Amino acid sequence: MNIPLKTPREVEKMRAAGEAAWRVLEMIGPKVHPGVTTGELDDCCHRFITEQLNAVPAPLHYKGYPRSICTSVNHVVCHGIPGQRKLKNGDIVNIDITVIKDDYHGDTSRMFAVGRPPVLAERLMRVSYECMTRGIGAVAPGARLGDIGHRIQSHAERNDFSVVRDYCGHGIGREFHEDPQVLHYGRPDTGIVLEPGMVFTIEPMINAGGCETRLLPDSWTVVTRDHSLSSQWEHTVLVTEDGREVLTLPPGEAL
Ligand code: MF3
Ligand code: CO
Ligand code: CO
Repeated sequence: MNIPLKTPREVEKMRAAGEAAWRVLEMIGPKVHPGVTTGELDDCCHRFITEQLNAVPAPLHYKGYPRSICTSVNHVVCHGIPGQRKLKNGDIVNIDITVIKDDYHGDTSRMFAVGRPPVLAERLMRVSYECMTRGIGAVAPGARLGDIGHRIQSHAERNDFSVVRDYCGHGIGREFHEDPQVLHYGRPDTGIVLEPGMVFTIEPMINAGGCETRLLPDSWTVVTRDHSLSSQWEHTVLVTEDGREVLTLPPGEAL
């Protein structure tokens, strides 16, 4: 495994990339409402990223991906392709933004409620958010990757939800997906030891039913096998000398 440690110069660029990514989420949030199509949200983000942020939407043409963002609605786990689908009252949608700024990537996603979702959907969104923040809380030099996965898994399962195994977090930098793989399940005191300068995402996908997934014939869209709801949040995190810095966190926002 080759885990590139970022230099202070690179960290500065990753902060800028992280900031660009959260700015897109802040911009698009108020536009998520019943009647808007996921394709319209994609167009809007694409224009904002290229025209306002002078950045590049990393998903576009990545391994053949056709659009600039991912929009994953209800039982879609991840990598939902924006299109004609109109959001309706009660939907929950993950919007996943990755931008390239000055050669470095920033990757973050949030859940949005469309109108008023059912109580179960609200609880799934909250618990999956807590899973992410608990995982982030485990990041510190000397901690191990398994500590992160363990915290996420225990919180999900004690709430009777399941952790998707088929997709994981990832190192990030010049490349969209670098080593290491960051599993959202695991055992404490296992896996690689974290060192200052490592940057990776934590992006747990939590299902209301079983953890199994299925890939749709479009070869991108991942759905829950049992069609249960799925929810995901993502941040890009730097290991610092004394803990962590969340590179995609708007200033003033607490985790
Ligand atoms: N942003 C996703 C992640 O968190 C990856 C999307 S890949 C794409 O890793 F091609 F679907 F955009
Ligand atoms: Co990611
Ligand atoms: Co992402």
